[in-house]
Amino acid sequence: MKFATITSSLKGELTIPGDKSISHRSIMFGALSKGTTKITGFLQSADCLSTIACFKNLGISIENTTNEVFVHGKGLHGLTPSDTILDCGNSGTTTRLISGILAGQPFTTNLTGDASIQKRPMKRIIDPLTEMGLKIISLKDNGCAPLEISRGNLHGIHYYSKVASAQVKSCILLAGLYADGITKVTEPYLSRNHSELMLKSFGANVKSENTTATIIPGNELFAQEICVPGDISSAAYFITAGLIVPNSEVLIKNVGINPTRDGILRVYKAMGADITLLNERTQGGELVADLLVRSSNLKATTIEGRIIPTLIDEIPVIAIAACMAEGTTIIKDAAELKVKESNRIGVMVENLTAMGATITETEDGMIIEGGHPLHGAAVNSHDDHRIAMSFAIASLVADGTTDIVNAECVGISYPEFYNDLEGLL
Ligand code: S3P
Repeated sequence: MKFATITSSLKGELTIPGDKSISHRSIMFGALSKGTTKITGFLQSADCLSTIACFKNLGISIENTTNEVFVHGKGLHGLTPSDTILDCGNSGTTTRLISGILAGQPFTTNLTGDASIQKRPMKRIIDPLTEMGLKIISLKDNGCAPLEISRGNLHGIHYYSKVASAQVKSCILLAGLYADGITKVTEPYLSRNHSELMLKSFGANVKSENTTATIIPGNELFAQEICVPGDISSAAYFITAGLIVPNSEVLIKNVGINPTRDGILRVYKAMGADITLLNERTQGGELVADLLVRSSNLKATTIEGRIIPTLIDEIPVIAIAACMAEGTTIIKDAAELKVKESNRIGVMVENLTAMGATITETEDGMIIEGGHPLHGAAVNSHDDHRIAMSFAIASLVADGTTDIVNAECVGISYPEFYNDLEGLL
């Protein structure tokens, strides 16, 4: 897909579609609850539809209408064996969280996903689930999907995770719902806490203290009404565009600003961004605001340590902003980027170098010297939705044409992305 040359300004407003992480969890926890969970603002993207398809295969009736999703939950012990191998598509959240749920079922399930999922590390969930007493095997013996998950008698454990990963944490907590005792997960830094918040609202006995989450099994879960806030990871593209395209003023409505997700706002503020939070409110236990973003002269910064998990999916587009900032931006402690839908460090460096940026790859991040103009070039999304959207934003400030290979992969998290961008031009 080709993107035309430099944009003079972005103006207008848009409403951000539902949060991907929260949408997945609303289906999963709804399926494990007694009664019918009603979800509004559900993200109708390929990843979330993979989660719906998996739970339908596990015997859950789900009605997906344009405005609402109804999940007819059957309680913690109501899932039934799937007669096909579960297909998690491109979704790491589906694969890892559903594995925790399947750990507690009295039947064997096989699951897999697309080529990208089959390369992503699953040892990080295989190890703790095995420690809990589960029989889980990587069928190709390479630590990746396809996985076979058999019955085990689950024991509560205290797991110290090497990575700050909400997918790992959530997988273990969900298995903990079925364990014979208390399960705790301690992570090096706090990752997104949507599972803890939402499980609590469904009636689970979950506690959080610093970077440790605890689940005490025994409670039934009960259906809820969930209103999914907009995804700050999707808003990130328009926040960045509003800052780096000159003469811009953009109102970005319905943005979830949970403090475990709002690192991009803190980093951009430190870089000198003009972002105003309006209409701050709580929606279904999550903080939400509208963001007024105006063009800003950004200054370089260093991004490292505990803030990394709070902006992990936004780093590709933050790298674009860093190219337009004055000075040298350093991103470190972000080795997790290498095991996302693509190797996001390698791919950002490859594509930004093609566009004329001065960028160096490091072991756990990148160093970007800002202030060098970007030029249109052929870039490759590597079928990674966040890479495609990041380079659509880069094209707005690049001279010449930017040609993105498989730009259509944005359907994984944001099917309407190009229409929404068009609306601001
Ligand atoms: C997610 C957690 C993050 C994030 C992913 C969604 C979730 O992954 O990158 O897009 O919904 O829990 P990790 O937990 O592996 O860091």
